[in-house]
Amino acid sequence: MTALHEFPMTRTCPFAPPAAYEEIREKDPITRVGLPDGRQAWVVSRHEDVRTVLNDRRFSADRQHPDFPQLVPGFRRPDDERTMITMDAPEHGPARKAVLGEFTVRRMEALRPRIQEIVDGQIDALLAGPKPGDLVETLSLPVPSLVICEMLGVPYADHDFFQTHTTKLIKRDTPPVERRAAVDAVRGYLADLIAGKEDNPPDDLLGRQIVKLREEGTYRRAALAATGFLLLVAGHETTANMISLSTVAFLRNPEQLAAIRADPGKTLDAVEEMLRYFTIVDAATARLCVEDIEVGGQLIRAGEGVLALGYSANRDPRAFENPDELDIDRGARHHVAFGFGPHQCLGQNLARMELQIVFDTLFRRVPSLELATSVDDLPFKDDANIYGLYRLPVTW
Ligand code: HEM
Repeated sequence: MTALHEFPMTRTCPFAPPAAYEEIREKDPITRVGLPDGRQAWVVSRHEDVRTVLNDRRFSADRQHPDFPQLVPGFRRPDDERTMITMDAPEHGPARKAVLGEFTVRRMEALRPRIQEIVDGQIDALLAGPKPGDLVETLSLPVPSLVICEMLGVPYADHDFFQTHTTKLIKRDTPPVERRAAVDAVRGYLADLIAGKEDNPPDDLLGRQIVKLREEGTYRRAALAATGFLLLVAGHETTANMISLSTVAFLRNPEQLAAIRADPGKTLDAVEEMLRYFTIVDAATARLCVEDIEVGGQLIRAGEGVLALGYSANRDPRAFENPDELDIDRGARHHVAFGFGPHQCLGQNLARMELQIVFDTLFRRVPSLELATSVDDLPFKDDANIYGLYRLPVTW
């Protein structure tokens, strides 16, 4: 018997999925793999099948369920405060709808001038700082952090506190006890912050939620703190990593960079392609099968776990021609980097806009930007469940 592939896998090249993905996708596209806790799960690797899994109610997102496939053992307690990302229908819809109105394209467009101001301010700081500078510290992290903090009504001055805890959460080797402590610390902080808003709710996302949920008679501080926590973490760590990785990719592909410089109308297409090309959230789109179902000719039984491999789907030649090439003109919008189906990323409009503004502004204002170290020496987040960069030394 051949040995099982073990998941999650580590990327060996920052610009490509683990080599085994292609082998799995081409030879045995729905296959059993081993997980860190010794259990097994199915891996689904083709674009069409990944979309089927993520879009079918027979696959549950209930990460508290004891049989849910865990990439990091002990990640969640069964008694944890639930948020939309771990809920199924019929609970999931209302929880998502409660905040959906905060993330519409229209709402995001209203934020555009402020995001532009934030990006300009951080680029001023980069240019005024030492050379080489660290792009992660000066631009990639502060931009999405400032934006989500302002949206929620969380003081940015506390960002060191929640950033330290977020880093622990995303690392795969953080012991379960420390991981738990990090979640509790940030949620506790948010619960205190929310308590301070209760008497006279301000006009920020958390304040508006207090008012809205009270009107509906469903307000609970701990539940709102959990939602705030989800938005805070999902809202900055992901986009920050996409800013850093895409900057590296643009600098390595000067002809693609020249194309967006010449025509900023292309930047949004480039953003889609970068999302596809890096797929920073990959096997984390896991599910638990709750009713027998056949996917791609394979019977998956109730009680079995499934990892929907977004990065494999996004490099599937059935969905993308020459998938390993970075091509901003390909029309990549059917990628699954934001997931698919009912849990598809709530913050995608925000993320797209932040990335668009950052690239248009950065490469226009700092045309001589270059890496201050070789790609081989960059500290990629090989040990994290969201891929990215810890630091990005640049000069100009
Ligand atoms: C480039 C940036 C981002 C990437 C690649 C990304 C990726 C993802 C993915 C793959 C999912 C699906 C998870 C699943 O199906 O289990 C997801 C869900 C989610 N994302 Fe994002 N995300 C990004 C930015 C953001 C931002 C900026 C926010 C909020 C401010 C956000 C909030 C959420 C939330 C709340 C969910 C859960 C939605 C639900 O369960 O209904 N994300 N994201």
